[in-house]
Amino acid sequence: MRVLGIETSCDETGIAIYDSQQGLLAEVVYSQIGIHSPYGGVVPELASRDHIRKIMPLIEGTLAKAGLKKEDIQGVAYTAGPGLIGALLVGATIGRSLGWAWKVPAVGIHHLEGHLLAPLLEPNPPRFPFLALLVSGGHTQLIAVQGLGQYQILGESVDDAVGEAFDKTAKLLGLGYPGGAALAKLAEEGDPSRFHFPRPMLNRPGLDFSFSGLKTYAARVVAQELGSADFQAEQMAGSAMQIRADIAAAFQLAVVETLTKKCQRALQETRLPALVVAGGVGANQALRQSLGVLAEQEGFALHFPRLEFCTDNGAMIAYAGCLRLEAGQRDNLQILVRPRWSLTDLILP
Ligand code: KG4
Ligand code: ZN
Repeated sequence: MRVLGIETSCDETGIAIYDSQQGLLAEVVYSQIGIHSPYGGVVPELASRDHIRKIMPLIEGTLAKAGLKKEDIQGVAYTAGPGLIGALLVGATIGRSLGWAWKVPAVGIHHLEGHLLAPLLEPNPPRFPFLALLVSGGHTQLIAVQGLGQYQILGESVDDAVGEAFDKTAKLLGLGYPGGAALAKLAEEGDPSRFHFPRPMLNRPGLDFSFSGLKTYAARVVAQELGSADFQAEQMAGSAMQIRADIAAAFQLAVVETLTKKCQRALQETRLPALVVAGGVGANQALRQSLGVLAEQEGFALHFPRLEFCTDNGAMIAYAGCLRLEAGQRDNLQILVRPRWSLTDLILP
């Protein structure tokens, strides 16, 4: 089956075409970061309006890139939640309407199911069951994945998501929005031992996380060490630059150690044979390295999506949609989005 996938849950318009025989045929992502960064975060109304402007040209462009016509599409999948309601409605309205106009089935996909299944687009994909570490801007969860639609949440953040902690700390360091990748880059030049960030909830049993304390700790260190340093100044003192990099490195190390330890605990408790990492923070090289070392020590298989499929994209939605449509799921003509939607409420196809 050949499926058009549409992702518009936040600030990326992602379009892709996945074919169950031939794999991914074409894929484009348009990022709205330039629109939102002056505001220091995503502005929902601007996001919806820009999805409207971009979605049809991107769909046409993706079809052209794959050398296909609309008659070649056999199903449509769109992100139905969770996410920003206006942004979701753009993708859902277009996706559902195209399915109707083209007389092919359409299905609404859970954004996090898309992320979870993204590593299955790689060569040597993991097989069910596996443990998934989902680390995005909005979620931090450890999930036992038994099969398509069979998800058990073993642990999650009780406050900030890990991507959110990266973004907030990056902002404190004057790195702009979203700053996760920039903070990771700065950390490469830092000494992680100069400051010692707390490892929240590490010494307590259980698999939940808490990351809001890290941002508070970072704010205190910044105030103590840098006072009112002007991060935008071109001539920032070398010592202040180094302190900034050291804070980034110590923050990142605390996050990576916490995530690694909880993955180890979850794998020991569940005896699942593989770990799949998904979501934007899965692009973090320090995390990839640390989990790589653990995988070697403990002998489990470790899977990541390619870097561009860690963050939001249409390919993961086309893929999840293809699995669900092939399993017989058919959504009716109602255009339904769910801004809040738990992974555990998904139906089995
Ligand atoms: O999955 P995603 O694209 O969007 C959501 O569904 O939330 O994740 C975005 C998050 C942002 O918080 C961003 O700062 C973070 O992923 N991120 C990173 C890196 N690349 C993206 N965090 C740490 N290191 C990175 N290399
Ligand atoms: Zn996402």
